[in-house]
Amino acid sequence: MTRIVLATHNKGKVAELHRILGELDVVGLDEFPGAPDVAETELTFEGNALLKARAVAAFTGLPAVADDSGLCVDALNGMPGVLSARWSGRYGAATGDRDTANLRLVLDQLADVPDELRGGAFVCAAVLVVPGGVEHCVEGRLRGTVIREPRGTGGFGYDPIFVPDGGERSTAELSAEEKDAISHRGRAFRALSELIPQALG
Ligand code: IMP
Repeated sequence: MTRIVLATHNKGKVAELHRILGELDVVGLDEFPGAPDVAETELTFEGNALLKARAVAAFTGLPAVADDSGLCVDALNGMPGVLSARWSGRYGAATGDRDTANLRLVLDQLADVPDELRGGAFVCAAVLVVPGGVEHCVEGRLRGTVIREPRGTGGFGYDPIFVPDGGERSTAELSAEEKDAISHRGRAFRALSELIPQALG
């Protein structure tokens, strides 16, 4: 069975990719002590995902998958984008609850933006890097609206303030399975999974 390393310590992401890739043996970085912790210094999701997957493929000698994602708000010209995790900076870090500080900042920034202009998308770039072989990059998107007050307790990050198009519940009010089925990450991982058999040859 082919082993693929997912460039993350996040067990939730490893489990999600494992569900999607089925028969492939997916392991996370916890299995590789000393693996490099790569800073996300690029200005695009694809660039950051490639940085991580290349470093992990070089370190392990195994095919590596990495992703990078975030919330892109139309009224903020696509930001927080690649800065999503760190949007509230050291002020958010000092509160001890970065996710809440990040989403509160976005809500404040959109306070005067009318409902019809509050569109945005969760975006995910997923990449596969085969040592000495091919590199593939795909993107998944989930369009929706940024609501005015947080709703729901599931998910993470900006989920409580995002309602996907065509629905009424925030992504924090969806079950994990419902979110996987439509999410940017689910879409990107599923698209990548179709490329893997040929890429591994
Ligand atoms: P990363 O791809 O794990 O680095 O995630 C970057 C950041 O984007 C997270 O810390 C969240 O703030 C945000 N984000 C990415 N995906 C989601 C999602 O599915 N729901 C809510 N926030 C997300």
